Amino acid sequence: MWDYTEKVKDHFLNPRNVGEIENADCMGEVGSLACGDALKLTLRLDEKKEKIVDAKFLTFGCASAIASSSALTEIIKGMTIDSAAKVTNQDIADYLGELPEQKMHCSVMGREALEAAIANLRTGKTGVVELEGRVVCTCFGVTETEIERVIKENSLTEVEQVTNYCKAGGGCGGCRGEIERILLRTNAAAKPTVKPSKPGRLTVMQKIKMIDETIAREIRPSLVQDGGDIELVDVEGSRVIVALRGACSSCPASPVTMKDFIQAKLREFVADDLVVEEEKQ
Ligand code: FES
Repeated sequence: MWDYTEKVKDHFLNPRNVGEIENADCMGEVGSLACGDALKLTLRLDEKKEKIVDAKFLTFGCASAIASSSALTEIIKGMTIDSAAKVTNQDIADYLGELPEQKMHCSVMGREALEAAIANLRTGKTGVVELEGRVVCTCFGVTETEIERVIKENSLTEVEQVTNYCKAGGGCGGCRGEIERILLRTNAAAKPTVKPSKPGRLTVMQKIKMIDETIAREIRPSLVQDGGDIELVDVEGSRVIVALRGACSSCPASPVTMKDFIQAKLREFVADDLVVEEEKQ
């Protein structure tokens, strides 16, 4: 049994603003019944189309989904559209006191529905919002963009946390290695740089040594965890030729891993102009 705050229980048992506004000024719809949660949010605006005067929701989901949707409508009523656009999933959780971490995805769904409604108002697009970016978790249709966003906005460090916030990784588990790499990359980019400074000019031997060390320290552990491996084949000027082994060699996402993870790490720790290529068979 989840440990819910009194406010979550209140908004679940007495949800505010349930329903659908007829001829609403805008509508946002997210989730799918196949994934277990869905939310439709409709908004009525003032005459100038700047302020939210009414908000209603329909949801198919658990107690947290109902409480989060109810809280969202209470938060945004009376707000300008510009202010509402800044509401985060953490604002929804804070309004409710807190949500169990395993249920934070309900607050994320609320924020996504609000974004979809605002996008509908600004662009005229309706229907279920397609989030930009490559789908990483096919079980739940979660994109790389969404995973990066929940990591950044909620300072996540573990794959389990990502699953709690956006469900990615919570099905077959096939995407968990990819989520791990997105975590590493996103958090590395967010950290204030306290890495060893890159030397100005390297001899060929120094460059090879640094590339080898970076692969061993920063890259290989993550690939091995995912059933793969990497070998340095050659270095020709700024070209770094590597071979992917094990699960990585047949992974359809290997071009992305090569550029966004391996090349990014080598540029971070060795030299900005390195270009990583896979060995031709
Ligand atoms: S692909 Fe993400 S859990 Fe199955």
